[in-house]
Amino acid sequence: MLDRPMYLKPDVAIEPLFNQWYVWWYLISPATAPLFVSRLHLKLMQSFVANPDVHVAALQNPALMGGPFINHPVSRVNEVKALLDRTTREQADMLAYTKAVSDLEQLLASSKGESLEPLYAKVPDMLRGFVELHYDLAHRANARIMEPLLYRSSLYKESAQSISLMRVAGDARKYVFSTPRLEGDSPLWLQVPYRHEGIDALFRMRHTPGSPGQVAEMLGVPSSAAEAFADLFTETAPRKPEPYTGSGVRVRYFGHACVLMETREVSVLTDPVISYEFPTDQRRFTHADLPEKIDYVLITHGHADHLMMETLLQLRHRIGTIVVPRSNAYSLADPSLRLVLEKTGFKNVIEIDDLQEIQIPGGSLMGIPFIGEHSDLAVQAKTAHLVRLAGRSLLMAADSNALEPRMYQHLSELVGPLDALYLGMECEGGPMSWMYGPLLSQPLPRKMDQSRRLNGSDSARATEILNHLNPKEVFIYAMGQEPWLRHVMVLQYDETAPQMIESNKFIEVCKGRGIPAARPFLSMEQVLE
Ligand SMILES: [Fe+2]
Ligand SMILES: [Fe+2]
Repeated sequence: MLDRPMYLKPDVAIEPLFNQWYVWWYLISPATAPLFVSRLHLKLMQSFVANPDVHVAALQNPALMGGPFINHPVSRVNEVKALLDRTTREQADMLAYTKAVSDLEQLLASSKGESLEPLYAKVPDMLRGFVELHYDLAHRANARIMEPLLYRSSLYKESAQSISLMRVAGDARKYVFSTPRLEGDSPLWLQVPYRHEGIDALFRMRHTPGSPGQVAEMLGVPSSAAEAFADLFTETAPRKPEPYTGSGVRVRYFGHACVLMETREVSVLTDPVISYEFPTDQRRFTHADLPEKIDYVLITHGHADHLMMETLLQLRHRIGTIVVPRSNAYSLADPSLRLVLEKTGFKNVIEIDDLQEIQIPGGSLMGIPFIGEHSDLAVQAKTAHLVRLAGRSLLMAADSNALEPRMYQHLSELVGPLDALYLGMECEGGPMSWMYGPLLSQPLPRKMDQSRRLNGSDSARATEILNHLNPKEVFIYAMGQEPWLRHVMVLQYDETAPQMIESNKFIEVCKGRGIPAARPFLSMEQVLE
């Protein structure tokens, strides 16, 4: 039965895991993964093992979902303890690296502006040969970590990578970032690195029939899981995507910041986060609506709702080129997105700089500065994408926060007028610690933490963008409201949430100026003829 040509069922989901934790970009780079393992995963597990009741009680309150609590019952405390012990044992060098990073920070803090040469011999042993020390022009010492070299060291641990496969009956999935997966959670938990070709062979079967038996062999599915694996396949062919044959651009909103732009010649997809398919009243586009080949995937930044490995791994086999912002090698907050993707098996990953233009069939792509939203950290790996196709121009601005409207004034001639502006307006984001806490060696004072939030544009700032770029139409997107994002974004806004109030206000501003504006939800289609 497993050797007949079959399709992958449209409700099959994948969870890429790192040490059994749902993966995001900071867990892939060897420069940052140790910091998150030591300062987040181990701490959470230690806390759960010491007081599981506290975690269980906290999660009775839905407002605390997404907080630092493990979502397992008390009865699983021994399994969490086993994972804690195994991580401590097997990832001992990650703990050592974390200590080395904080020792290096202290060493650099002691420098007084004189030559850094004598310090090389004092660099913690683990980091020697991986860092160049330097001053900024105000004589503050810092270190550049040579990330490509670290990827070639034993700190890049493909052995900690695995995937779990499952069928989903609906959108509801537990929040993933604060809870490790435990053995027994999924019968199909496979110890393969993300770059494994078996993953491509599997997901190619979403649209092209293949042999489940061959894929099982490639992925090393154990015979004990053969039945669960066979259940992932069907003889029923999926819906065929409807190709666009017009002379303009067809734009389809797939949810959150994921937008597919198609002309007769080319397809471009931003920040892929795609829903699985199962019977539901909430109409949406799914994998079956994607073209068999996606020519360009554009990533705006590394946040897990924009660079979502779960979706990207499923699409990898059908992506032509993937365009990412260039990172700032001088900051541990800013690992290279190009390396993250190249090391996990993506081909043709290219970096785009601010105002760099890349020609594509029938148009071009340009990197547009994306400021703000990253807690004032030196993160350069973030970009808005100006997409020009069939004579139309669309700016996919993601979570840009127009902290300095003058930037848009400087850009206005180059960018505007736009046919469409897509802007995220999560004007009140999480505190700095929520995303970046584990990168910090020093405790973060509460006042600092609360003031440096991951805020996107509010209505006043969005209006400044409007003033300078003159879009003909505005879409507020990337609001995290689609139900298929609930496992990575806990936020569900009601009409009293500042994000809703501010975006409604901005929609009114646009309408007052005769500019159509909307906040799409679930799905939307528009054709720019
Ligand atoms: Fe973001
Ligand atoms: Fe976002």
